[in-house]
Amino acid sequence: MTKTLRASMRSTILLTIGLLAVMFGMSAALPTSNNTVGGNSDLADTSIDSELRVCRLTPPSGPSLLVESGGDRDNGGKGVLLQNADSGPARWFHFYHSSYDNMVYKSVKIRSGETVFVSLCDGFEGRIQRGTETNWERSIQKLGTWAEFSFDEAGRDIWGNISVLEGCDGGVEIATTDGSNVRKGFREYILDGAPSNAMTRKRNGSPVIDKLVGHDANRAADEYIRRRLNPSMVDISNNQQTAVKSGNMRMRFIFHRGSYEVGGLPCRGGITHFLVSHLWNGQRS
Ligand SMILES: *[C@@H]1O[C@H](CO)[C@@H](O)[C@H](O)[C@H]1NC(C)=O
Ligand SMILES: *[C@@H]1O[C@H](CO)[C@@H](O)[C@H](O)[C@H]1NC(C)=O
Repeated sequence: MTKTLRASMRSTILLTIGLLAVMFGMSAALPTSNNTVGGNSDLADTSIDSELRVCRLTPPSGPSLLVESGGDRDNGGKGVLLQNADSGPARWFHFYHSSYDNMVYKSVKIRSGETVFVSLCDGFEGRIQRGTETNWERSIQKLGTWAEFSFDEAGRDIWGNISVLEGCDGGVEIATTDGSNVRKGFREYILDGAPSNAMTRKRNGSPVIDKLVGHDANRAADEYIRRRLNPSMVDISNNQQTAVKSGNMRMRFIFHRGSYEVGGLPCRGGITHFLVSHLWNGQRS
């Protein structure tokens, strides 16, 4: 009897210890917020907020911060609301700081229909682009619609615009969040109907309307874009009219249907692409 009791007490204690161990393990594995750090695994979760307050002026060794679906914790500071208004799978959006075209500053993966907050450092000036994991290579991948923005010196205003000067991979809208209700940019997927000599491909193989600036600017792309888009809503020729100001350190960007995949069709990359990208994501998180 006592033997049985002792045995059952022992197993209860062991079970409790086991449960506690499992719970401890689980809480250690759960992120404290929706911030997920990848690429730079030596950064602890707790260091994220301080990292975000200052722009890194030296390029990090990889994508500095990868924020998985859910976005950053809203710390009341500067940032943008970013919406994936496309259908289909979750998509990557990459932030580039102006002077670092070959280095993603921050990446966020957003599910279809979701809006996330992305926190940014004081002096941030740069752009958001659609992308894939290919953007984490150390190479310049400028092709695509740019959602450009910067915070002014005084620190309360954010200025932004939608530009197709470096190409067009789908519609993006910019909207103020300070009550002024200004909205610019465009929603249409104008890749459909574009002449083939206006098109090129991104480094990841996805189709894109070619760029309008530089020595190799595409004239067919320029003509086509001018026919399809309103130059007071989208930056086609450095028109200051396209600039939008929001007075609350926040701006909203809505990414409509865009080109992400080779062939421009969902799942066109096939099962290999699917497996590779998922294994890759799994490794990083
Ligand atoms: C993380 O994001 C999910 C939705 O994406 C939300 O429901 C949840 O409250 C967030 N958690 C934290 C700690 O912010
Ligand atoms: C668009 O925004 C960027 C970043 O703020 C800025 O450098 C650029 O001059 C703006 N373009 C226009 C036409 O306002």
